[in-house]
Amino acid sequence: MSGASDPTLDTVLVVDFGAQYAQLIARRVRECHVYSEIVPWSMPVAEMLAKQPRAIILSGGPKSVYSPGAPGIDPALFDAGVSTLGICYGHQVMAAALGGTVERTALAEYGATRLDVRTPGVLFAGLPAAQQVWMSHGDTVSAAPGGFTVTASTAATPVAGFEDPARGLYGVQFHPEVMHSERGVEVLRHFLHAAGCRPTWTMLNIVEDAVEAVRAQVGAGRAICGLSGGVDSAVAAALVQRAIGDQLTCVFVDHGLLRKGEAEQVESDFVASTGVDLVHVKATDRFASALAGVTDPEAKRKAIGREFIRVFEEAARDIVAGTEGGIDFLVQGTLYPDVIESGSPTAAKIKSHHNVGGLPEDLQFALVEPLRTLFKDEVRRVGEELGLPEEIVWRQPFPGPGLGVRIIGEVTPERLELLRDADAVVREEITRAGLDREIWQVFAVLLGDVRSVGVMGDERTYGHPVVVRAVTSEDAMTADWARLPYGVLERISNRIINEVPGINRVAYDVTSKPPGTIEWE
Ligand code: XMP
Repeated sequence: MSGASDPTLDTVLVVDFGAQYAQLIARRVRECHVYSEIVPWSMPVAEMLAKQPRAIILSGGPKSVYSPGAPGIDPALFDAGVSTLGICYGHQVMAAALGGTVERTALAEYGATRLDVRTPGVLFAGLPAAQQVWMSHGDTVSAAPGGFTVTASTAATPVAGFEDPARGLYGVQFHPEVMHSERGVEVLRHFLHAAGCRPTWTMLNIVEDAVEAVRAQVGAGRAICGLSGGVDSAVAAALVQRAIGDQLTCVFVDHGLLRKGEAEQVESDFVASTGVDLVHVKATDRFASALAGVTDPEAKRKAIGREFIRVFEEAARDIVAGTEGGIDFLVQGTLYPDVIESGSPTAAKIKSHHNVGGLPEDLQFALVEPLRTLFKDEVRRVGEELGLPEEIVWRQPFPGPGLGVRIIGEVTPERLELLRDADAVVREEITRAGLDREIWQVFAVLLGDVRSVGVMGDERTYGHPVVVRAVTSEDAMTADWARLPYGVLERISNRIINEVPGINRVAYDVTSKPPGTIEWE
């Protein structure tokens, strides 16, 4: 799925100079309904041009253009006739390459800054003469290259914007992709429009293109897909189902470590909305035996991972054995950030090992990864387009080892039951308070080996504590504990203690990440 393979789609390449924000730039471009793809700055210009981009955006980066080994770009790019926008470091690279002046001044700018538009030109047409932008730079462009008009400046940066529309070259020192740049998205949209990018990257197109691509790849072959109950595998399976119908078989390994109602949701709601052929492997007992007596977090993770591989493998073998001609493809819900973060095509392999384990040699599948070009928010919208239930599409991230890493101490069926009930209360109350979309993850953790004394109805109790964890985050790399309203915490605490026998204390985790992690194990 790219502009080059689909003539109705224009591609914008985002050249990554090591920016914090390269992915955000690509997402913003896609929000303008233009397909965009990230490439490393080290990619030869000829290779970039071979992707037939309609426009190119040079991202920011952490270096100074003058530092030794600083990433640069072959100036041939600027003569290729492809409209190009430099952002922050990209703006400086463009200035330096075309004969402008970049200086290290004493006046670095970080954070919200007032931008004064001197000449609206193309990028600032119709926008206010003064606007707030987000800056993050040390070096500054002090003179634009010949032929460029200076469009904007700030107190510390004389050339905060420049352009030469005749050559299709534009630069801005600030970060238009960041929310704090008030009119940033409009600046990007003006660039895309000037570059002739058509706004054809829509949900319908994404789904249709992905379906076509899967059909072309799989042909008359057969595929299997492991469902985890999570968003990515569900959407990948639904898409492939739309493409090849009953040539796809899904395998759902129920390890008994899911939250309340989730296994039923996969079995009934998912199947009802997609018509997928589902093999439901009920393996709760096997996982319970594998986990008996195991208390060390790493040992638990390993036991769960190992058992998962075995069960999946057996199911895959059974399906292969029952299929004339065998199974050729394994469907995976790999997303675009997984692909670019690994920086190489090995991403797919890492994922397959992670999710379904190293499948044995005699089970060789080619991978089908229909979400490889998509960001998470796009995957959710694809899921909605495909008619998946909201509970699946908007589900929070959930760890592969499931509730197994949310019970501190041994995982037993009784403790799982306690945790599931407490966790269901937490989730219900968050939903009732209308907080679902504001919170990245919210769940309960059971301190299985700890007991505390309490009193209920004149009786002494000696039960387990539950810890409630709610975090806000953008990407799970960092997270902050959510400032839940006291009223919500109060209802959660009351209900858990009243409704879940065996739990007599509720604590709220006020640790951010770092130094904590989101999960407890
Ligand atoms: P931590 O606890 O490391 O978690 O802050 C970061 C994010 O990853 C999820 N997580 C996992 N996901 N398999 C997964 O698929 C795992 O083993 C695993 N462990 C943690 C966690 O829920 C959070 O979103």
